Amino acid sequence: MKGVVFVEFLKMVEAEHGLDMVDDIIEQADVPSGGAYTAVGTYDHKEMVDLVVSMSKITGVPTGELLSAFGSYLFSSLANAHPVFMDGARDALDFLEKVETYIHVEVRKLYPDAELPTFECERQPGGKVLHMIYSSSRHLEDVCDGLIQGCLKWFHSDAEVERQPLEGGRELFIIKTS
Ligand code: HEM
Repeated sequence: MKGVVFVEFLKMVEAEHGLDMVDDIIEQADVPSGGAYTAVGTYDHKEMVDLVVSMSKITGVPTGELLSAFGSYLFSSLANAHPVFMDGARDALDFLEKVETYIHVEVRKLYPDAELPTFECERQPGGKVLHMIYSSSRHLEDVCDGLIQGCLKWFHSDAEVERQPLEGGRELFIIKTS
């Protein structure tokens, strides 16, 4: 997993809970990198899980909630860092449909060793509902949920998101806009 994801995670923790919490989480997680991440470095994605489990133990907030909150935060960081990706997207569903075919394709050019998920998207008749099937050996469904929520917020879109586990460890996200 790219260091940029870890850097943003620790930035979020610092903004919400202060630097002492960052130190406590890293110390308790005892991650191989020692918590010293650089944006362009690459680290085992399990370190992210270890950091979140550690934060959950300290704060009492369930890991799924922490990962989802982080996904939402991450979306606005990524969007602010890459304004060119936001240009030309009409609305949230339009943007989400382009994650697989454009956004992550460009991300791969920037970071050839990025570990990206796969999405299969299907717009439902009427155009207001998008089915997105997430597939990744890293199983960051909760981060994905947060990224979708962050995207909806970014576009000021009023929407409901439902999740359904599918066979093969995939997850279907049903995004219903009004
Ligand atoms: C400005 C928009 C976006 C940018 C620049 C971006 C970029 C990235 C980058 C750099 C990573 C890390 C790759 C690695 O760790 O090696 C990543 C991972 C990921 N992205 Fe995106 N992304 C964007 C939007 C989205 C959206 C809207 C979604 C959800 C629909 C999404 C889903 C994911 C997921 C779930 C991962 C974690 C890796 C995995 O599950 O295997 N991304 N993305």
